[in-house]
Amino acid sequence: MKPDNIGISTPKRTMQKNNKIVSVVGARPQFVKAAVVSDRMRKVGIDEVMIHTGQHYDANMSEVFFRELGIPAPKYNLGIGGGMHGEMTGRQLIEIERRLMDEKPAAVLVYGDTNSTLAGALAAVKIDIPVAHVEAGLRSFNLRMPEEINRIVTDRLSAILFSPCLVATNNLRAEGVAESKIVEVGDVMYDAALLYGGKPVRTPDMRGREPVAPTVLVTIHRAENTDDPLRLRAIVEALCRLAREIRIVFPLHPRTRKALERAQLWHELTSRVDIIEPLGYIDMLAAVRQARAVVTDSGGLQKEAYFLGTPCITLRGETEWTDTLALGWNTLVKDLDSDAIVRAVFGARIPRASTERPYGDGHAAERIAAHLLETL
Ligand code: UD1
Repeated sequence: MKPDNIGISTPKRTMQKNNKIVSVVGARPQFVKAAVVSDRMRKVGIDEVMIHTGQHYDANMSEVFFRELGIPAPKYNLGIGGGMHGEMTGRQLIEIERRLMDEKPAAVLVYGDTNSTLAGALAAVKIDIPVAHVEAGLRSFNLRMPEEINRIVTDRLSAILFSPCLVATNNLRAEGVAESKIVEVGDVMYDAALLYGGKPVRTPDMRGREPVAPTVLVTIHRAENTDDPLRLRAIVEALCRLAREIRIVFPLHPRTRKALERAQLWHELTSRVDIIEPLGYIDMLAAVRQARAVVTDSGGLQKEAYFLGTPCITLRGETEWTDTLALGWNTLVKDLDSDAIVRAVFGARIPRASTERPYGDGHAAERIAAHLLETL
């Protein structure tokens, strides 16, 4: 089902029936998605109750997003972050179930592919509350990624699958998901990038150097890179080599900091590369826009680079966002030897212009809110 025309001007409705939706968020990229969807849900009169699992808890991994993006404070913050996957997901599951029993929503809304997504979906479906999944259908076809497991299970459990693009829709079709459950709405991250991508840089670390020298912006946090000392070493080596010729700015995720210290690579990296604290969303978009290239293993950043016109080098063997490859904005570096990374960064070019818009028209959140309102 592709509701091309729904939602944009759906009137506010006074409801007799249950119009409460519980949304579950926990990690950084989910706050961005929730910001645009929450706003739209509010506008159409959906009563949203937000649960923050606490998966991300540092101020610059969580609070800054709520403040900058004007997301109302969650009704519940479960404070469950850290630990192994099973422990984190299990504890979240127990606590989310309790809140759902109290709130009795008409549906539960989950985002993306984190442990918080899985816990939210599992808690809901077990007590017979339908689940709606934003960013359904993405696949890396790599079951060694915890995110891939979270996505597959969440999609299997969901009653409404909001797909961001045709590639994701086709993945769901190939898995035999009923057509009536799939709603291709576009990508809420595109909505957000359009909304917030034009704001100026405000972070002192970045502003101190304006006018901005050419930079390469780096983010690395995936377990497959951080938890393999050999891969991490190759990345550090490449970044140090690149730093001889171009400024490298690396907002550091807490996972990566710990891994660098563990692998005794901290000193080597910081002697050449500008390590900064994790950036808020608006500053991150500005930094992406200004960078000459982005080097990352994040899913969201691959698209943000494309939305903002910056070539991206992805340090992974595969990507869920294959349109960014097809359009020439993204290059995968699979074999992590430092030569390959350095070559890819210096070889990065802005591709020929294309009229294709694989991630929708910037109105995904409106469609989601309208569809939820219709089906509650
Ligand atoms: C999680 C998601 C990943 C998403 C990413 C965005 C899973 C399986 N992974 O990965 O899909 O792309 O978030 O950033 O859900 N930590 C802190 N402070 C924080 C947050 C985390 O110190 O605010 C520490 C944790 O204690 C842990 C490590 O960082 O030691 C990793 O955090 P975790 O939430 O397990 O996974 P991410 O790597 O952030």
